[in-house]
Amino acid sequence: MSVPRPILPEPIIPRPIIIDCDPGIDDAIALMLAFASSETLEVLAVTTVAGNVPLHLTEPNARRVRDLCGASQVPVLAGCPRPLLRRLVTADDIHGASGLEGSGLPPARGTADTRHAVDWLRDTIRARPGEITVAAVGPLTNLAVALVQRPELAYEIREIIIMGGAAGAGNVTPDAEFNFHVDPHAARIVFESGASITMVGLDITRQARALPEWLQTIAALDTPVARCVVGMLAHYGSVGGSLHDVLAVMQLLRPELMTFEACRVEIEIEDPETIGKSRVTRGVPPPEANAQVGFALDAPGFRAFLAERLGRYGAV
Ligand code: RIB
Ligand code: CA
Repeated sequence: MSVPRPILPEPIIPRPIIIDCDPGIDDAIALMLAFASSETLEVLAVTTVAGNVPLHLTEPNARRVRDLCGASQVPVLAGCPRPLLRRLVTADDIHGASGLEGSGLPPARGTADTRHAVDWLRDTIRARPGEITVAAVGPLTNLAVALVQRPELAYEIREIIIMGGAAGAGNVTPDAEFNFHVDPHAARIVFESGASITMVGLDITRQARALPEWLQTIAALDTPVARCVVGMLAHYGSVGGSLHDVLAVMQLLRPELMTFEACRVEIEIEDPETIGKSRVTRGVPPPEANAQVGFALDAPGFRAFLAERLGRYGAV
């Protein structure tokens, strides 16, 4: 008599991702979340760009956080040191002069990888068409340069999860969110590229707040990662920072905590008053829609999941 073979669950093959960032306090916590989720996400590399602070700080900051998370095998690559056209505007008032105010982290160890992030992004994605997701949580300069060099990259990237923009008000000007304010021309190139885009903008990220009682649960973990998070958020929270970039990674882990709509997103680059604005038209059908845009968040669910993942880091 044949015994039916047990139906075993398909092994979940971790989703290969590249995190393009400008650490930056919320970028740092986004990296922690990704590195703590290795059963679901395989971080192929962290690419860095000028944004919150200059590139000579964002690159070592990414290595500092990576090493804290015990992920030193993951390459960190430096990308573009300035926006495509605009002069670099930083946010050291929000993230501190170092970019990781309050982290308590030691300086980066070792030396920087000499490969350029744009070359690495372009070649790695080309070699694995349709497989790799990019989580872009800083100004989009690196991606834009890669797309100008190789437009077909837009169809080779599985998906781009972008923290940036807003259907409503900006956070640097009334119209522009920081990442699109810093490099509006890069954002225009990316949104017109034809790539599959999920936009995690301020409409949803402003709901991702680190509340005092939540911070107490993180502090109670009493681990190096928890102490780093609490230290950074003591400063960042005092200036009203939301966990913007963390939500972009969370979208890859718990998309059911959020709701998205198919929208047309167009980036303003001509009008000096509104440059960097993301004009979002909701509820448009493909092919007019060029992005899924986030609007609603289960904020308690977000905080609970983030606490659980940060709790995975040990005491050493
Ligand atoms: O507007 C918020 C975005 O700007 C986040 O990515 C934050 O890190 C800053 O880069
Ligand atoms: Ca960022």
